Amino acid sequence: MNYFTTTSNASRRAVDCVIVGIFERGKLAAGAAEVDAASKGAIKALLKSGDVSAKRGRCTVLNGVSGVRAPRVVVVGLGKAGDFDVPRFRVAVAKAIGAVSATKARSVLNTLTLENVAGADPYYLARHTVTVIGETLYRFTEMKSGRKAPPMPLKSVGVSIAKRSDAARAARGCEHGDGIVTGVSLARDLGNLPANVCTPNYLARTAKKLATGNGKLTTRVLNEAEMKKLGMHSLLSVTAGTVEPARLIVMQYKGGGSGAPIVLVGKGVTFDTGGISLKPGPAMDEMKFDMCGAASVIGTMATVAALELPINLNVIVPAVENMPGGRATKPGDIVKSMDGQTVEILNTDAEGRLILCDALTYSRRFKPATVIDVATLTGACVIALGAHHTGIMSNDDDLAAEIKAAGVTAADRGWPLPLGEDYALQLKSNFADMANVGGREAGAITAGAFLGKFTDGLSWAHLDIAGTAWKSGAKKGATGRPVPLLSQLLLERCGALP
Ligand code: BES
Ligand code: MN
Ligand code: ZN
Repeated sequence: MNYFTTTSNASRRAVDCVIVGIFERGKLAAGAAEVDAASKGAIKALLKSGDVSAKRGRCTVLNGVSGVRAPRVVVVGLGKAGDFDVPRFRVAVAKAIGAVSATKARSVLNTLTLENVAGADPYYLARHTVTVIGETLYRFTEMKSGRKAPPMPLKSVGVSIAKRSDAARAARGCEHGDGIVTGVSLARDLGNLPANVCTPNYLARTAKKLATGNGKLTTRVLNEAEMKKLGMHSLLSVTAGTVEPARLIVMQYKGGGSGAPIVLVGKGVTFDTGGISLKPGPAMDEMKFDMCGAASVIGTMATVAALELPINLNVIVPAVENMPGGRATKPGDIVKSMDGQTVEILNTDAEGRLILCDALTYSRRFKPATVIDVATLTGACVIALGAHHTGIMSNDDDLAAEIKAAGVTAADRGWPLPLGEDYALQLKSNFADMANVGGREAGAITAGAFLGKFTDGLSWAHLDIAGTAWKSGAKKGATGRPVPLLSQLLLERCGALP
């Protein structure tokens, strides 16, 4: 996709389509008002006819509006004028682009960026335009046979700006948006691929392919023998039942001089049957998404590399398949983790924390400024927060606040859950230093508390994306979250925001 910014009037610009917005009670957004004036009242006449509604997301495609150079005008309802905010802006752009993509238009101009949107300037409005378009037009067709659908005609997206002096910020927004779409799309592709294709080794090969020509990004992949040498017996206990070899993927991006790196750790369980503590059958196919944490941190690395951000970022992905089998770990088995603590595995389905604890220990060798792990860790988090917020747990209140704010800005929200000694006590074991489960109560938090036992002295946060990483039902598929949140945090950390 190609992007441009423009101060041209909506009616004058030579594009195949312009998007204009109308608020309830007959108020026209700036682009719509200009088109209305140029066409001697086409938009107001439309409103008067009662054939079009300003309800949020409602779209009408007008062809051949007189006085307008573009052959198509998409009129999108924006709802009440007073409460137009970033999430509503994003819905309006998504719906309008849906209408545009049903036409043959090859270029489109979005004039909604001229509005006053609470909490967003031209940089963010341009960036959200690009990310919403990328997310809306995303298709996963790799696994379909038969004739390929013709490619989408839309090739060029314009962002309206009110004044010349906004151009640089808006252009930067388009650029960053495009980089975020790269990461989100990669994360979604990896999530959507079936587990017989997207194995630990497939994740490793994907990470290796991202290594750039400029030498900023390198990827190392450790095999099981190497992990054994490091003492990662907790991680290895999860892979014991499968024939699929486990991998530890270590990506290093050096764009920020000598500063301490940020480390992202992503849960890469390419399929989670539960192991000997076997999961029930219904919807078990969705456990192919149990590597979405890994996909999101690899995707974020793709964003950082695409934008060549001035930052040091390391990504660690413990990648395994969790299967039952003759050699599988059994409930009651006790393993020694890389940092020496012993774990009684009371439930082999609580496997995410078993691979993450060793990956978190491994992260210490990088003397990180910050460590953030991302994992589809608990069904309990889905019950607590639903599909709206990612669960945020941290031993550093400032870091938790930073992550929460980044999520709001990027429209990829998270919400804090508490940690603390009370929850950690639920993990008591009669036989080992701790058990890997803490009972039914506060299941998302006891999982976080388990990880907390391995992050002493680090500035660390845990993101539980079990509810946000994919959608179930008719629209089943990976979302790419929390790539936008993580990208925002990194853009802020490296001072790349205009
Ligand atoms: N990958 C699952 C968590 C999950 C389940 C995410 C359903 C999304 C939907 C994780 O490995 C798991 O099985 N967790 C258990 C933990 C329990 C055994 C303490 C869970 O949530 O049931
Ligand atoms: Mn599990
Ligand atoms: Zn799992």
